[in-house]
Amino acid sequence: MRVVSGIQPTGNLHLGNYLGAIRNWVAMQDALEDGSEALFFLADLHALSQPHDPAGLHAGTLEMTAALVACGIDPDRSVLFNQAQVPQHAELQWLLNGTARMGWLNRMTQWKDKAGKNREGQSVALFTYPVLQAADVLLYQATHVPVGEDQKQHLELARDIAQKFNNDFASDDAPVFTLPEPIIPAEAARIMSLRDGNAKMSKSDPSDMSRINLSDDADTMAQKVRKAKTDPEPLPSEEAGLEGRAEARNLVGIYAALAGQSVAEVLAQYGGQGFGGFKPALAELLVEKLSPIRDRFVALKDDSEALDAILARGAAKARERGIPTLDAAYRALGLVRH
Ligand code: TYM
Repeated sequence: MRVVSGIQPTGNLHLGNYLGAIRNWVAMQDALEDGSEALFFLADLHALSQPHDPAGLHAGTLEMTAALVACGIDPDRSVLFNQAQVPQHAELQWLLNGTARMGWLNRMTQWKDKAGKNREGQSVALFTYPVLQAADVLLYQATHVPVGEDQKQHLELARDIAQKFNNDFASDDAPVFTLPEPIIPAEAARIMSLRDGNAKMSKSDPSDMSRINLSDDADTMAQKVRKAKTDPEPLPSEEAGLEGRAEARNLVGIYAALAGQSVAEVLAQYGGQGFGGFKPALAELLVEKLSPIRDRFVALKDDSEALDAILARGAAKARERGIPTLDAAYRALGLVRH
């Protein structure tokens, strides 16, 4: 088993990242058996796809490293690194650009959402971003990729690229790439904004009130929950009653994911109550679950020397793991390097 996943280091780690992905990274790391390995990385090369602040990128990368360690990623057990120190990612992307198809990339919903009506004005990197993401996982022969629902389509593309490359350039009994399996949590696959139950909770939302950040203190978290958009109806006793109530569904889903319960169990307890009762319970649960992580994060985040050392050590291991597959891809394509 090879577990591989990444996160963009621009902006704070928020509750959507945590419940949708990072919590699963930690669980998978902790469950690994001998001979299996997990690699987790800061996708700093992906930051170039949109306008970014060069001065803030390194700081953001270190901060996200501290956040991942605070969440439970153990750099002694998992390989933790940033892409920029492993040039094999960008190299493999170029090799895969020969296999990926324009039509496949044109269908990516993230590209369509981010480009909007201004496709001509976007960077080429925003368009080819999913090919770099494919390289990120194929380089390590990833078998399992824990992600939130929004990355499912990108992982399907990675499988399509791997499949076509293997068909075109390798024999059936010696494929170059492994087809990766996305691992998406049953609850919390898609955490929504606190201000709009139909928009994803995201780092790029201009309103900080739309998301819970790992770095928020207890009062800020409670205030954000108190101000979260809801409707005037009490909570239903059964899941069907959440139909058409995106905000209520989101808050109940967050509660369920944090408490380790199903939505039905949460509604069995809170059905019939208004948000005046439910919101304080949710805020309390959030603070209980996230405060210890926040405390560890605060203790780690300013030790840039230690964080840099973690990333350098991880990058050396990642390069070692990635080089054999990159070599195999060069050879399969007939590119001779002496
Ligand atoms: P990113 O940085 O946007 O998010 C990191 C992880 O958090 C999940 N996530 C969510 N899950 C549930 N609800 C939400 N509101 C929410 N917001 C984010 C994402 O699904 C993701 O798992 N392209 C990727 C980074 C990446 C990557 C990779 C991931 C680059 N290369 C290779 C996996 C494998 C991204 O921008 O994630």
